[in-house]
Amino acid sequence: MTAERLIDVDGVEKVFTVRRKAGRLRRVRHEVRAVDGITFQVPRGEMVAYIGPNGAGKSTTVKMLTGILVPSGGRLRIAGIDPARERTRLARRIGVVFGQRTTLWWDLPLKDSYELVRRMYRVPDAVYRAHFARCAELLDLGPLLDVPVRQLSLGQRMRGDIAAALLHDPEILYLDEPTIGLDVISKAKVREFLREVNAERGTTVLLTTHDLTDIEQLCRRVMVIDHGRLVYDGGLDGLRAAGDGERTLVVDLERELPPIEGVPGARTVKVEGPRQWLAFPAGRSAAPLVAAIAERYPLVDLSVREPDIEEVIAKLYAGDGGRPDRTATAADTP
Ligand SMILES: Nc1ncnc2c1ncn2[C@@H]1O[C@H](COP(=O)(O)OP(=O)(O)OP(=O)(O)O)[C@@H](O)[C@H]1O
Ligand SMILES: [Mg+2]
Repeated sequence: MTAERLIDVDGVEKVFTVRRKAGRLRRVRHEVRAVDGITFQVPRGEMVAYIGPNGAGKSTTVKMLTGILVPSGGRLRIAGIDPARERTRLARRIGVVFGQRTTLWWDLPLKDSYELVRRMYRVPDAVYRAHFARCAELLDLGPLLDVPVRQLSLGQRMRGDIAAALLHDPEILYLDEPTIGLDVISKAKVREFLREVNAERGTTVLLTTHDLTDIEQLCRRVMVIDHGRLVYDGGLDGLRAAGDGERTLVVDLERELPPIEGVPGARTVKVEGPRQWLAFPAGRSAAPLVAAIAERYPLVDLSVREPDIEEVIAKLYAGDGGRPDRTATAADTP
C-alpha cells in the first residue's frame, strides 16, 4: 500500500527580492533564494524533523506549508489542498506554532483566547471540551487559564500556544521551534505532550528545532535543509553515517601504556591513564578492532560510543551540501 502523501512538496522555491544599500543614496535590488527547489512527502501520522542552520529556509518553508507565503515556483499540496489558493479551507486541517511569537491575544486571559479560537474555527462543543480537557491536563494549563497572556513566562506561553494550535483537532501540526528558550522540564513536558498527541490522535507533525534532543526523542525521520536545499532526508542512524561520522572504541587496559598503534582502520585519539579512545568509521564493525587490540594489549574492559549527532550535523552544515547530487538518502527512511 502506498502511504497517503498528506504533505506533498515538489520542487518548491521561494525567492525574496530585497533592496540593499549601495552607497549613500543608491539601493540595489537583490534576490534571496530562501527555498531553492525542495521536494519531499510526509505520510499521515508521521513525525518528522525539519532542521538546518540559521537562515537555511526552515521558517520560509513552514510559512508556505500554511499558506502565509506563496511559493515562487514548484507545486505544493497539503491534504490535497493548495495552501496559497485555499488558505481558509486549509486552516481547519492544520495547526501552527511559531515559537518565536505568540498567536494568542496578548491582553486576554488564556481561556478567553481559547474561546476565540473555538469560535473562529467553529469547533463543536463536545470536540472542544474533550480536547481542551486533555490539553489542559497534559500541559498543566489549569493554573494559567485566568492569567493574561502577557503575564505568562515563555514556557507557560509556549504550552498555551501549543494547546491553542490543537483545539480544533487538526490533522497536521507544524511546529517552528516549539522548545526555543524553554527550561529542561518544560521541554520534557512539551515533548511528552507531542508524543501523546501523535500516538493518540495520529496527528502528523513537522517539527523545526535547533535542539537535537527534540529530534532524538520524537522523530524517526529527519530532513536537513541548508541554503534552501534539502541535503539529507532519512533516519537518524543514516544521518550519522552521512556525516562521515566516527564511532569511538573506549578501552581500559591493565595499566598506563603508550598510545595503541597498528590497529588497521582505527586511530588512537586520546589517552588518559589506562584508558584509551580509538576512532573508527561509523559504518564498520568494532569486532576486528577489539580482537586486534586484545591480541597485543592487556585489555580489561571496553565500550563503543556512537558518533555525537551534534557533531555530525555540524559537519553536514559546514559542507557545500545542497547540490541535488549530494542529497543523502538513508535506506531506512520509514
Ligand atoms: N520576508 C522576507 N524578506 C526577505 N528575505 C527573507 C524574508 N524571510 C526570510 N528571508 C530570508 O530567507 C532566508 C531563510 O530564512 P528563514 O527564516 O526561512 O530561515 P530559518 O531556516 O527559519 O532560520 P532560523 O533557524 O534562524 O529560524 C534568510 O536568508 C532570510 O534572511
Ligand atoms: Mg526560523
